[in-house]
Amino acid sequence: MRRSITLILLGTLTRYIRAQDLTDAQIGTINSRLSDSAKTSWELGTRTQTLIELNAQTYSVFSDQSLPPPSSPSGGDASGLQAVFGIAKSVVSNRVKTSGPAPLVEDGSAADPASIGVAVLIANLTGQDKGQVDYSGAAKSQIDYLLTSVPKSSDGAISHRAANLQLWSDFVYMVPPFLAYYGVTTKNKSMVAEAYNQVKLYRNHLRDGKKGMWKHIALGTSGNDDGFWSTGNGWAAAGILRVWATMKHSGYSSSFKNEQKDLANWVKEIHSGIYQHLDNTNLFTNYADRPLTSSGNFYDASSTAFLASTVYRAAVLLDQHTYLPQAERSRKALSASNSNSSSSTSSSSLDSYKHFTSEGWLTPVVDPHAFGQQGSQSPEGQAFVVQMHAAWKEWVKDGSKGANAASSARLTVEVQNLVLLVGLIGGPLQWL
Ligand SMILES: *[C@@H]1O[C@H](CO)[C@@H](O)[C@H](O)[C@H]1NC(C)=O
Ligand SMILES: *[C@@H]1O[C@H](CO)[C@@H](O)[C@H](O)[C@H]1NC(C)=O
Ligand SMILES: *[C@@H]1O[C@H](CO)[C@@H](O)[C@H](O)[C@H]1NC(C)=O
Repeated sequence: MRRSITLILLGTLTRYIRAQDLTDAQIGTINSRLSDSAKTSWELGTRTQTLIELNAQTYSVFSDQSLPPPSSPSGGDASGLQAVFGIAKSVVSNRVKTSGPAPLVEDGSAADPASIGVAVLIANLTGQDKGQVDYSGAAKSQIDYLLTSVPKSSDGAISHRAANLQLWSDFVYMVPPFLAYYGVTTKNKSMVAEAYNQVKLYRNHLRDGKKGMWKHIALGTSGNDDGFWSTGNGWAAAGILRVWATMKHSGYSSSFKNEQKDLANWVKEIHSGIYQHLDNTNLFTNYADRPLTSSGNFYDASSTAFLASTVYRAAVLLDQHTYLPQAERSRKALSASNSNSSSSTSSSSLDSYKHFTSEGWLTPVVDPHAFGQQGSQSPEGQAFVVQMHAAWKEWVKDGSKGANAASSARLTVEVQNLVLLVGLIGGPLQWL
C-alpha cells in the first residue's frame, strides 16, 4: 500500500518534471544525431562549440573562468573535450598544405572553416600536439588567410565567401569569436579589437534600423538575401555573445568597456526585433516577419532553439530578461510530448515527441544547405537544441531570473497542488 502510494506520488512528480523539459539523457540522443551528421566546416565548428558548452564548461567562454583557460583540463572537462580534440586533430591533420596562408578546411565560404578555430586553439593550449600536429601553425594560417587573402568591403568587412565579396549574417558566429579568442591567447589586443570591428561592420551592412533584425546576405553582385532569416539572426546574436564573453573574461576586459556595452545592446536589439514575430505556436518561421504562406516560409524549430539559447545566455551574462517568457515558451513547445503518459526521467527515448522523430531528429527544420527550403535532418538544428539545453541549465542554476509573472503564477499553482497532494497522501501514510 505504502509502496503503491509512493509510486503514484513519484509518477505525479515525474510528470511535473517531464511535462516541459527534455532530460539530459534525451539531450544525449539528440547530441548523437549531431555527431552522426555534422560533416561540413561550419557543422564541425558548431559541434565543437556545442560540446564545449555542454560537456567542458570551464573551456566555454560563457563560464566565469578567466581566459586563456587552464593548460591541463581536469575531471569532466578532460573527458568532455575528447570529442572536441578528435575533430581538431582530424581537421588539422587533413589540412591541405599550401605555400601561403590557408583555411582549416577548403571551402567556398571564407568564414565557415574559422568556426573550428577555437577548438584548434584549445587543442594547442592544452598541449595536444605532442610534437606531431601543428595546431598553432594551422590556427595562424587560418588567421592570416582571413586577414590577408579574403576579399574585403571598402570599409574593411571580411567577406563571408572566398571567391567574391559577400556579407552573410552567419559570418558573425564563424569568425569574430575566433579572432577574439586568438587575440586573447596570443596576447594581441588589436586582434580582439578587430573581432569587435568585424561585428560592427557586419551590423552596419545587415541590420535594418526599423525592424531591428539582421538581413541575411548583402553586398554581393548576385544572390543577395534581404530577408530576415531567423537562423541568421541566431548566428549574429550567438556570435556577438561569444565575442562579448571572450572580452569580458580576458585580461583586456577593462580596456573594452564601451565595446562590451555595444555588443550587449546589439544582442538586445536583435531580440527586440525578432521576438515580436513569435506567434502562438512559439516557433519562429524561417523568415521571421513573413507570413507562413509566403514562399520559402515554414515553421523552423532550428532557429527557434538557437534564439532561445541566446536569450538564456543574455539573461545570465547581460542581465537582459525581457524575452525570457518567450524563450521559455519556445523551449517548452519544442520539448512537448504527444503522449500523456509519463515515462522515466532517465529515459533517453524520444518516442512520440511533437518536435522530434523517434531517432531524435528535430523537426520541422530549414534545410541547412538550402536556406529557403524545408529540410529533414539538420546537424545545426541538433546543435542548437543542445546549446539551448546547456544555456537553459545555466540560467536555472543562476536562479531562473526573469521568468514572467504569468508563468511563475502557474508554477505556484502547480507547486500548491503538489503540496496538497503530498499533504493528502502524507497524512494517512503515517498510519499505514
Ligand atoms: C600555442 O601554444 C603555445 C604554448 O602554450 C603558445 O605559446 C602559442 O602562443 C599558442 N599558439 C596560438 C596560436 O595560440
Ligand atoms: C595582431 O593583430 C593584428 C590584427 O588586428 C595583425 O595585423 C597583427 O599581425 C597581429 N600581430 C601579431 C604579432 O600576430
Ligand atoms: C491525452 O489527453 C487528452 C486530453 O486530456 C485525451 O483526449 C487523449 O486521449 C489522451 N491521450 C492519450 C494517449 O492518453
